[in-house]
Amino acid sequence: MGIRVVELFAGVGGFRLGLEGWQGKSSSSNYTKKLGTDYKIVWSNQWEPSTNIQHANLVYKHKWPNANHNDKDINEVVGDHLTNKQVNDNIPDHELLVGGFPCQDYSVAGVNTNGIEGKKGVLWWNIHRILDVKRPKYVLLENVDRLLKSPVNKRGRDFAILLATMSDLDYDVEWKVINAADYGMPQRRRRVFIFGVHKSSGLKLKSDIDWINTESIIGKSFPSKMKGDRKLIKIKGNPVAISKDFPHGKFFNCGVMIGRDVLTFDYSPVDLGDKKLSVFDKLKDVLENHEAVPKEFYVDNHKILKSPLIKEQKEGVPLSYLDLNARNEAIMLTELDKWKYLKGRKAEKRVSSKGVFFYTEGPLKLTDDVNLPSRTIITSEGGSGASRFKHLIEIEPNSLYRRLIPLELERLNMFPEGHTNHHNISDAKRAFFMGNALVVGIIERIGLTLQDFIFESEDESVLQHLVK
Ligand SMILES: C[S@@+](CC[C@H](N)C(=O)[O-])C[C@H]1O[C@@H](n2cnc3c(N)ncnc32)[C@H](O)[C@@H]1O
Repeated sequence: MGIRVVELFAGVGGFRLGLEGWQGKSSSSNYTKKLGTDYKIVWSNQWEPSTNIQHANLVYKHKWPNANHNDKDINEVVGDHLTNKQVNDNIPDHELLVGGFPCQDYSVAGVNTNGIEGKKGVLWWNIHRILDVKRPKYVLLENVDRLLKSPVNKRGRDFAILLATMSDLDYDVEWKVINAADYGMPQRRRRVFIFGVHKSSGLKLKSDIDWINTESIIGKSFPSKMKGDRKLIKIKGNPVAISKDFPHGKFFNCGVMIGRDVLTFDYSPVDLGDKKLSVFDKLKDVLENHEAVPKEFYVDNHKILKSPLIKEQKEGVPLSYLDLNARNEAIMLTELDKWKYLKGRKAEKRVSSKGVFFYTEGPLKLTDDVNLPSRTIITSEGGSGASRFKHLIEIEPNSLYRRLIPLELERLNMFPEGHTNHHNISDAKRAFFMGNALVVGIIERIGLTLQDFIFESEDESVLQHLVK
């Protein structure tokens, strides 16, 4: 039966690809070699609140037609209006719970007769409910690195609530912010990976710097060296008390919590040597032949705008990529001029109810360096509109440029080529999926390390289930 996994916030299945591979093949070989894992996603859930049509589910069900996939709002499946028995019946038993969930405010207001006030709509509490009812041995979560220092006015509070509530359910936790490009993968994407272990499992975490850097499940997968500061923190109080007061500030890039005791520090990555985690490691490696790229992805200086766009600037502030006329105006005549304007430095005159002000932005590079791993893919990467943040590739200087196509975005996340290609899904949606997704190679590597631990060593509690 394999190691049973529940995948929450599944999107288009990044965790599933990392743990099961695609048709048994690994993301690290671009799906040409056998992965050799024994994970089985026994239940998955995905629901997008902002749209009626559930595009990610169309893709997920198309790629895995036999999946036990649930397409409801997770609040409906495990929310507080349900009894423990109902939650238990809704979710199959599993050894590993995984999910990449949005970063929200986890603070709670107080306690009333119905329980804790202020949990509604906050997705963390759904994960917490599943941990409470099902108690899987392991949990692997992904989030933006900002979670470690949120919110701005009470640094570290939200992560402290997450840690404390996991500890109260008898989970010890390790975490690490991983930039995929630091370990030979093709995208500079920084995300925090949080791995929890239930006390009933055979895996014991250690509050030891060397162990966290190189021997823990995440540390062995992505080795590091301590750099800079470290902190010891005891997280005190219930979620309501932590919401009111968390005096310890942000958490560093990696750490461990055992009981309510935390050791956290910053690290620098250690080179993996010959070990290759991806066949692509630079932006240029994922690029298709320019001739094969459809026209709508091109931006050139021939596409003349119906009417010129004019933006008045503050005096004395030159633009990065366009000239100003004698009246301090930027005049955009082509589609390419819009990209140049948006990506460059500017001090744009605007009018609000309080009067005139100048909106300023610093310069960004006009085009992406194809000899480096790519910048982070964002959800608005698709669509033909000019943008400050979308990738732009130079083909002929000052004349011909293009955006990235969905296939290239999939490669940057180490997804199988064409994974999100579906007749009902637009290119912009495919880009949106990739902006939401993760770099699959990270999950593959952590999954392999965890599986080695389960099979080779002592986690009899899980092995017993596997031989049943
Ligand atoms: C950061 S993305 C995770 C993407 C995924 N790891 C992947 O590889 O595609 C978070 C996902 O949670 C989904 N989501 C947001 N609110 C939800 C809810 N209330 N119930 C279920 N899923 C939700 C979003 O639609 C999105 O696909």
